[in-house]
Amino acid sequence: MAPLPIVRTVADLRAQVGAWRRAGETVALVPTMGALHAGHMALVEQGRRLADHVVASVFVNPTQFAPHEDFDRYPRDESGDAAKLAQHGCDLLYAPSVAEMYPEGFATAISVGGPAEGLCGAFRPQMFGGVALVVTKLFLQALPDVALFGEKDYQQLQVVTRMAADLDIPSEIVGIPTVREADGLALSSRNAYLTPEERAVAPTLHQVLSRIAAAVGKPTAPLAEAAAAELLAAGFSKVDYIDVRDSSTLDALDTVRPGARVLAAAWLGRARLIDNLAVA
Ligand code: PAF
Repeated sequence: MAPLPIVRTVADLRAQVGAWRRAGETVALVPTMGALHAGHMALVEQGRRLADHVVASVFVNPTQFAPHEDFDRYPRDESGDAAKLAQHGCDLLYAPSVAEMYPEGFATAISVGGPAEGLCGAFRPQMFGGVALVVTKLFLQALPDVALFGEKDYQQLQVVTRMAADLDIPSEIVGIPTVREADGLALSSRNAYLTPEERAVAPTLHQVLSRIAAAVGKPTAPLAEAAAAELLAAGFSKVDYIDVRDSSTLDALDTVRPGARVLAAAWLGRARLIDNLAVA
């Protein structure tokens, strides 16, 4: 298989995407931080169905990590990522450096509210501003017709959807269902942090979310309390939140209702696992 073309500068990205656009062809963008797995490949495959070309970006974005978080140890494997992307029909890998994305003197931020408030936004206050900033830059650099994001990061998907609408970003934002292991664990690059013992316990997160999602009509608070206790008893060290929210505004809901979303974040060893499910 031919190696995947890689570009590292905005100018080279624009030259390639511009040539496609001049030929009347459409472009899908799959923004990632690398350490790619089958969940990312589902985004690439859907991108191929929706556009003539798929560009994947791999950039571990420093502005969405707080100083104490895992920016330095976040898994990085560019050659493995490029091989997987090529196998799944991606046309171009965009892998800019930090200096290309945030050159000397960079001084602009984006402030996001609404769905960015609460949940992960309460525990990682810098994250969604950093995500909004880098995603906006990627949109302006690649000018995609469509951009694909995993529902695994459900709050991120709502923040990006809201921001794209608010800023009149002319790209369609598409969410793709979470890909799971056979035992229910949502695929995540951060699962690499789990020891074998922690990996055996990790699917409890999906189990407690499934139980809440099935409890239509019941009050949220006692269900969330029982679920948190179950996670701690199973070996999780800390539960950041378990909650039931409106599926697009992410406003709190005091009862489980059809169309709502159940979301959770909890620590297992060195990994902070997040997951969510739709209430049917
Ligand atoms: O979901 C991710 O991997 C990142 O938050 C994203 C969207 C690529 C922005 O850095």
